[in-house]
Amino acid sequence: MADIKIITTEDGSHSLYHEGLKETYHSFHGALQESIHVFIEKGLRFWRTKNGLPKEVDIFEVGFGTGLNALLAAKFATENEVKINFTSVEPFPVPMDTINQLNYIDQIGKEELKETFKQLHTAKWDELVEINPFFSLKKFKGKLEDFTGEKQFDIIFFDAFAPNKQSELWTEEMMQKCYQLLRTDGVFTTYSAKGQLKRDLKKVGFEVETLAGPPGKKEMVRGIVN
Ligand SMILES: C[S@@+](CC[C@H](N)C(=O)[O-])C[C@H]1O[C@@H](n2cnc3c(N)ncnc32)[C@H](O)[C@@H]1O
Repeated sequence: MADIKIITTEDGSHSLYHEGLKETYHSFHGALQESIHVFIEKGLRFWRTKNGLPKEVDIFEVGFGTGLNALLAAKFATENEVKINFTSVEPFPVPMDTINQLNYIDQIGKEELKETFKQLHTAKWDELVEINPFFSLKKFKGKLEDFTGEKQFDIIFFDAFAPNKQSELWTEEMMQKCYQLLRTDGVFTTYSAKGQLKRDLKKVGFEVETLAGPPGKKEMVRGIVN
């Protein structure tokens, strides 16, 4: 894969910089803050609260990358005693020696997550792995374009590189795919708030909400399947 290097974002948590794309894996204003706000709070917690606190939830992530979203979801699962079945697509896994240098455990302040983070990364690709009683993981080594299915998930964490860097993932066709992957009451959440994205989400059937973004970012977008 193209060269990637570790950077420190404004909240002190690490992210990666992809030299080929000249793009970071998270918001420069704070990787950890962004993941918590966009995916955990506005995605996972919102869906659960809206649907009467179910005991099980199926999440689909676009872009496993550093595994930060998966780690935070696993933390949420244990803390709330909810079973999370987490599926993630990633064509370009980050090398383990880079993962080992990331400071997420220190930044989150929960040493007991260290083993979980390791397990998330060492879990075999394309196999369902029970990480613990509250969290299962299936990493699909491939592209979103090649993932198929219907009404399998409750939540989509759409965490692809930005639309101006990876336009092929932010098309109406991809939004249609996301809509089809979600069940009724499903939630699509992403850090981007591009006008074209909102128009495409609406066109394929989502109810679209523009929400306040994480620190340093004005807005983000959430789509709901009614
Ligand atoms: C913005 S990064 C975020 C990754 C991750 N969620 C994290 O917190 O580190 C985008 C990720 O999407 C992956 N990616 C690139 N092309 C993709 C594709 N066609 N389908 C799915 N993921 C892709 C990249 O390799 C990268 O890991």
